Amino acid sequence: MTKAVCRKGRRQVLAAGLGALLTWTGLVLWAAAEQPDSPPSPQADPSRACLMCHGENAPLPAAGIVHSSHAVLFGESGQGCTACHGSSREHLGLAEDGTRPPPDHSFGPDDPSAGINATCSTCHAGQVAPHWQGSVHEFEELACTDCHNAHDAAGDPALDPARQAGVCFECHQRERAEFMRPSRHPVASGGFASDAGLLSCSDCHDAHGSATVAELNRMTLNETCYECHAQLRGPFLWEHAPVREDCSTCHLPHGAIHDALLRQRPPQLCQQCHLAQYHPSTVRSGTGLPPLGADPNLLGQSCMNCHTAVHGSNHPSSPGFTR
Ligand code: HEC
Ligand code: HEC
Ligand code: HEC
Ligand code: HEC
Ligand code: HEC
Ligand code: HEC
Ligand code: HEC
Ligand code: HEC
Ligand code: HEC
Ligand code: HEC
Repeated sequence: MTKAVCRKGRRQVLAAGLGALLTWTGLVLWAAAEQPDSPPSPQADPSRACLMCHGENAPLPAAGIVHSSHAVLFGESGQGCTACHGSSREHLGLAEDGTRPPPDHSFGPDDPSAGINATCSTCHAGQVAPHWQGSVHEFEELACTDCHNAHDAAGDPALDPARQAGVCFECHQRERAEFMRPSRHPVASGGFASDAGLLSCSDCHDAHGSATVAELNRMTLNETCYECHAQLRGPFLWEHAPVREDCSTCHLPHGAIHDALLRQRPPQLCQQCHLAQYHPSTVRSGTGLPPLGADPNLLGQSCMNCHTAVHGSNHPSSPGFTR
């Protein structure tokens, strides 16, 4: 806050007639109004002034923050509430028309996201760097507070693997539906007790932006998968080209209606690419199914009845991925 604004604030506060406020609040305001040009000192304890009106039973309670990860701001040398909301001196009193001016930063719905992000970044720029600027979420004008809750005494939901997906699903409804499909990565989504918090979105994505497609947190899509499916990293003696290239040629990352997160059911999956070559050259039809027939390309594991090592093989005599 500039000095000029502070002086204006003092005039307004005095004009509002503090004498009329015979409460403790009034006394604190008086003290505040007496030395408006000095920065808030620990002795002035601005947080206590704020909590007089925003204590646990107040209409707009804010005491939870004292127990949150931001509790450190309320230590001896911390700036307390003013670290985020600004010194908000005008807010401490009433304006001439009897209304209460808002705090310097309200973080309410009318607050532009750029301003919110600048405030949070005064302390956190290092943690959201280097990809936040220009990321999809920054471009879409999200505010830090769309995902983070600065006041939650139970901790920040975005940092809690059990609650994080719920934060993302507020906006990403389509992904919520994908994670409800029969085959899915077990992300804690609230809907499935059996999926209790094994994975969270941030195991694969960096919500603060990244250099990869879809804000993935590794250098490539495949690198992201190898993080947990390391046995498929290879290199293999016999590589299957599409596996090397991109796991998502065959798999959906979130959820699928086919087993093993597959985009399509084999043999159609394989025949997208292998129709013209040698033995799989027939398009498979219902005649291969009982009682009309028993085509090994359709029953059981389909093509994988024989091509068991579809991700690649280290067996010297298995260029066809049969073992
Ligand atoms: C004298 C009582 C009082 C004090 C002291 C006080 N507030 Fe408030 N505050 C209120 C009231 C009343 C409202 C609701 C105003 C409204 O609805 O227009 C409010 C609203 C707010 C809001 C929500 C604003 C919005 O637009 O959504 C924030 C944030 C806030 N106060 C922060 C603070 C901070 C930070 C301090 C300390 C620097 C503080 N308050 C000190 C009475 C107070
Ligand atoms: C780390 C930054 C930060 C600090 C420190 C902070 N706040 Fe907030 N405050 C926010 C944000 C962000 C919001 C918007 C709600 C949200 O997303 O958490 C908010 C919202 C509020 C609201 C509106 C709540 C509502 O229900 O609409 C009040 C009142 C408030 N703060 C008061 C305070 C008081 C009093 C303190 C000190 C005890 C304080 N804040 C400290 C960031 C902070
Ligand atoms: C005055 C400096 C300051 C400001 C402004 C500030 N924070 Fe913080 N924040 C901190 C400190 C200090 C911590 C505790 C750091 C730690 O524990 O590693 C923290 C912790 C956090 C954490 C939890 C980190 C963790 O590892 O648990 C999140 C998330 C966070 N802040 C988000 C925000 C958001 C969003 C805003 C803006 C509304 C904000 N902060 C404003 C200083 C600040
Ligand atoms: C789209 C949602 C989203 C937005 C917007 C967002 N964050 Fe985060 N943030 C997250 C998630 C998710 C994590 C947890 C990352 C993890 O667990 O690896 C996180 C982690 C953090 C952490 C603690 C972890 C660390 O890196 O040390 C801080 C601090 C933080 N965010 C600050 C911010 C600030 C400041 C902004 C605004 C410039 C912001 N975030 C915007 C989702 C978001
Ligand atoms: C196992 C890793 C993984 C997890 C966990 C994961 N994702 Fe993804 N997500 C991906 C990959 C890989 C892509 C890119 C797909 C592509 O480009 O074909 C993606 C793409 C996306 C996209 C972009 C979709 C599009 O069409 O552009 C969104 C949005 C998204 N994920 C949100 C989420 C949310 C929200 C969560 C948590 C509920 C989540 N993801 C969990 C791997 C993951
Ligand atoms: C306030 C709304 C909002 C929240 C909350 C939110 N996002 Fe987004 N996100 C968007 C918008 C808008 C886009 C761009 C349009 C789209 O792709 O859907 C986007 C895009 C994405 C993309 C695609 C990026 C690309 O390159 O195509 C990913 C991945 C993503 N979000 C992940 C997350 C994750 C993970 C979380 C939770 C930590 C999250 N989002 C929370 C609004 C949100
Ligand atoms: C953070 C760890 C993690 C990452 C990263 C990850 N996965 Fe997974 N994946 C898992 C877990 C856990 C399971 C479930 C294993 C189980 O059910 O036994 C799984 C299962 C699978 C399955 C088998 C599903 C089934 O129904 O049998 C496939 C296919 C799969 N992942 C593909 C991928 C792909 C492709 C990527 C990269 C986009 C990826 N995974 C990234 C952890 C991860
Ligand atoms: C050419 C298509 C294709 C590509 C590309 C592919 N997969 Fe698969 N994947 C399959 C098929 C088919 C299955 C089911 C295997 C079965 O039923 O025996 C499978 C199964 C899986 C499984 C679960 C069973 C197992 O073998 O552990 C995981 C995990 C998996 N794939 C991960 C990956 C990863 C990671 C990548 C990228 C490195 C990848 N896949 C690329 C076709 C593919
Ligand atoms: C996205 C296209 C694509 C998909 C889908 C695909 N493949 Fe392949 N496959 C290839 C390519 C490209 C080669 C390398 C061909 C070459 O070297 O001539 C290959 C090679 C092979 C080979 C070895 C061929 C040889 O010449 O030795 C076998 C066996 C094979 N694939 C089986 C499968 C099976 C089984 C599936 C289904 C799970 C499948 N493929 C899905 C593209 C694909
Ligand atoms: C009954 C076992 C069996 C089934 C089922 C099967 N294959 Fe094969 N396939 C083989 C054998 C054996 C080879 C020769 C392997 C070698 O050279 O290592 C082969 C070779 C291939 C080749 C390499 C080209 C060639 O002829 O050398 C491709 C591509 C292929 N199969 C794709 C498929 C696809 C796609 C399916 C499912 C539609 C399928 N196969 C089902 C046994 C089978």
